Amino acid sequence: MEKIIEEEKQGTTVQLEINGKNSRKLYIESYGCQMNFSDSEIVASILAQEGFNTTNVLEEADLVLVNTCSIRDKAEQTVRKRLEKYNRVKERQNPNMKVGVLGCMAERLKSKFLEEEKIVDMVVGPDAYKDLPNLVAEIDEGRDAVNVILSKEETYGDIAPVRLNSNGVTAFVSITRGCDNMCTFCVVPFTRGRERSRDPQSILEEIGDLTSKGFKEVTLLGQNVDSYLWYGGGLKKDFSKATPMAQATAVDFAQLLNQVATAYPNLRVRFATSNPQDISDDVLHAIAKHRNICNYIHLPVQSGSDRILKEMNRLHTREEYMRLIDRVHAIIPECAVSQDMITGFPTETEQDHQDTLSLMEYVKYDYGFMFAYSERPGTMAARKMKDDVPEEVKSRRLNEIIAVQRRTGLERAQYFIGKTVECLIEKESKKSDTQWAGRNSQNYVAVFPKENYKVGDFVNVKITDCTSATLIGEAVGYSDMNGPLTIDTE
Ligand code: SAH
Ligand code: F3S
Repeated sequence: MEKIIEEEKQGTTVQLEINGKNSRKLYIESYGCQMNFSDSEIVASILAQEGFNTTNVLEEADLVLVNTCSIRDKAEQTVRKRLEKYNRVKERQNPNMKVGVLGCMAERLKSKFLEEEKIVDMVVGPDAYKDLPNLVAEIDEGRDAVNVILSKEETYGDIAPVRLNSNGVTAFVSITRGCDNMCTFCVVPFTRGRERSRDPQSILEEIGDLTSKGFKEVTLLGQNVDSYLWYGGGLKKDFSKATPMAQATAVDFAQLLNQVATAYPNLRVRFATSNPQDISDDVLHAIAKHRNICNYIHLPVQSGSDRILKEMNRLHTREEYMRLIDRVHAIIPECAVSQDMITGFPTETEQDHQDTLSLMEYVKYDYGFMFAYSERPGTMAARKMKDDVPEEVKSRRLNEIIAVQRRTGLERAQYFIGKTVECLIEKESKKSDTQWAGRNSQNYVAVFPKENYKVGDFVNVKITDCTSATLIGEAVGYSDMNGPLTIDTE
């Protein structure tokens, strides 16, 4: 039983407004992390300029793209099954259809896809999307096309992403790409390259554009947002070589948060993902200072054992992580914290596992994403360590971790019963068409009767009950986050 990030979104397609001038049909399916979903918005935007409209009917597509994930073997297997499916459609129904692989699997497997698995026409890594017009021209002429070059600079800061499958209220904005951390289990540094940050000006402009279109919440996105550092462009690792002027005027993540929150006081700001070794107290103070920065930190720990943390090349100890959690609660009293956890990393003993469970009891996470270790070719762990924890042990430990998470999650949710919390209405509740669903600052979904409220309203909701994942209540009025205008128009 493995939790998948954004499970309901996996494999969703993208559908844009039809542009009458465009005549070709693009079907694009996305898997994996939020960054991939965000990248698909960039890809659709680039291809809209090349004569493509999106479709969600696979059989009628001229071009099928799949944005892929390599994080665990299971993610890759899912994509392989989809490639087989596209190929069947191509053989039986639509021989002119072209198929392209994007994202992390494209980067990891490179031209192997074209040579060994003849079902693919095009392979495009995460830093090469601007080359899509050329690559599509290649496959149009019957040649295979591949670009998996990783970049030192590409942040797509100059591309206005089209918002796909959007609720019109919440949007994701990428602020960094790549990761320099080299956790020994992780394939991301190999598939997404070195870490680089996006120009704050272009971030602020994109957010300004979103607010003018009525969006009410943005999530700043990166593999390790706390490591954000803008000093005029270039790789994070080259910062020490920058000019004294560039260093002195650099913008770090806490400063970026302050800038965004100050520029758009009626916009909610979230961010993901944080890294314990890189998050600074300045970031915690920025959250505490600005009412519109949500009180929620996704702070993966992966293990509660010092020995395993070291083997994973996570550059902090259990004790340092616990003191960080203490500071989070001291500086931001109502902050919710969630985790990512890996169970069954090579050499993990029963004692290491107990250390993970006891860390979880200490932190009392609100929420979590828990995974059984999956060996990824090319990573340090795969090269140096044997995947020696038996599958049944991994899965038993995973279940124990999930059980603790369920319990602490429920306890944390119960904290809200009797309290009034501010929620941003995102959509109709999945379970009832008479109820709205929105999230509070701590990222809990709350459901409550619709009354006369509408999607995009900030409302105060009195919580009367909960499950481990959902708060249940009723609205008691608008919140002042709407600003005066929205209330007057009611
Ligand atoms: N910093 C990234 C992490 C990406 S991977 C972020 O933005 O979230 C997401 C999670 O997948 C990791 O935190 C880790 O818990 C899990 N993961 C990564 N590699 C894994 C592997 N080889 N096996 C199992 N889980 C893994
Ligand atoms: Fe992976 Fe560690 Fe970076 S989990 S994405 S190498 S912070």
